[in-house]
Amino acid sequence: MPNTKIKIENLYKIFGRNSFDSIQLVENGMSKDELLEKKGHVLGLNNINMSIEESSVHVVMGLSGSGKSTLIRHINRLIDPTGGKVEVDGQDITQLNVLDLNEFRKNKTGMVFQRFGLLPHLNILDNVTFGLDIKKVEKSIAQGKAMEWLKKVGLDGYEKRYPQELSGGMQQRVGLARALTNNPEILLMDEAFSALDPLIKKDMQDILIDLQKELKKTIVFITHDLDEALKLGDKIAILKDGFMDQEGTAIDILLDPKTDYVKRFVEDVNRSRVLKAKNIMEDQSKVPSDLLSGQKMTLAQETVIEKFIDKVITEKPNLIEVTEQEKIVGYITPQRLSFILQK
Ligand SMILES: Nc1ncnc2c1ncn2[C@@H]1O[C@H](COP(=O)(O)OP(=O)(O)OP(=O)(O)O)[C@@H](O)[C@H]1O
Ligand SMILES: [Mg+2]
Repeated sequence: MPNTKIKIENLYKIFGRNSFDSIQLVENGMSKDELLEKKGHVLGLNNINMSIEESSVHVVMGLSGSGKSTLIRHINRLIDPTGGKVEVDGQDITQLNVLDLNEFRKNKTGMVFQRFGLLPHLNILDNVTFGLDIKKVEKSIAQGKAMEWLKKVGLDGYEKRYPQELSGGMQQRVGLARALTNNPEILLMDEAFSALDPLIKKDMQDILIDLQKELKKTIVFITHDLDEALKLGDKIAILKDGFMDQEGTAIDILLDPKTDYVKRFVEDVNRSRVLKAKNIMEDQSKVPSDLLSGQKMTLAQETVIEKFIDKVITEKPNLIEVTEQEKIVGYITPQRLSFILQK
């Protein structure tokens, strides 16, 4: 069983003076608009409950103002809740004192921002070692780690440059290297790729997917882009006006949107372009046994349907084996594939 890394329970955030009493009003069904009109309070989060598994990418999406940033900022307590709790590794972080909170933030969490947040007067290397410098890690060790990460994000040779000499995409890679150099268990990414051009954005998504295979961090990733959510998220939570409208895997969201709001998000999605083999594969127990001995085709789990559908049509396998690093991790029957594409 996977471990729960972050557990959010009955979380409310209502902005405004003396907002505590407004929880009751919201519980009794008062809407965001009505609360603003009657009490002058802004409903940020409305009774959010979420379990985020260790080593998973949990995406939070929703329209502007739906509460995404408010939610992620509760995880490192940049915002205090009006009600409810946030547990990390079983510890309620809303109860931490200032010292413990500082330790928690420094050691357990790292944040990657939309606008990169690099310090303009420091060169790239010093930007990346910044977190370790604060922790008083010896310079040569900090620089060694920073260089390792700069290399992994493809910025070898840029360490002496300054942020303004780098393109947006490169600056965001520095932001990612900086967060990873600190080696936090939890990575909080608030619209980290939203400001980038589509091609650069795709590169960054691929870098993140690639790194995550080895890193296995717990990542909370905010986006308003459904394609990005489907591509990155092991689970996707969709917020609307501060409440959780639907939460599930890419398949749950695409094949079974529960509300009109979610339906509107998914109606124009090209499934074969966003769904990967790993999203649609099933356990061996779901595969009829006669198919297991028939003609097979093998696919890497990150392959999107669009990339293998032609081959399935020409080769007509009885069964597709899905692999990760040469190990079989699941199966797709042709029936399952056509169901997914037609439903
Ligand atoms: N400090 C604050 N004071 C008052 N209201 C706030 C504050 N921060 C956020 N809000 C309100 O809370 C709601 C949720 O805002 P939030 O920034 O979390 O949305 P978001 O989903 O991140 O939007 P975006 O996609 O535009 O970043 C909005 O109605 C916003 O106006
Ligand atoms: Mg936001």
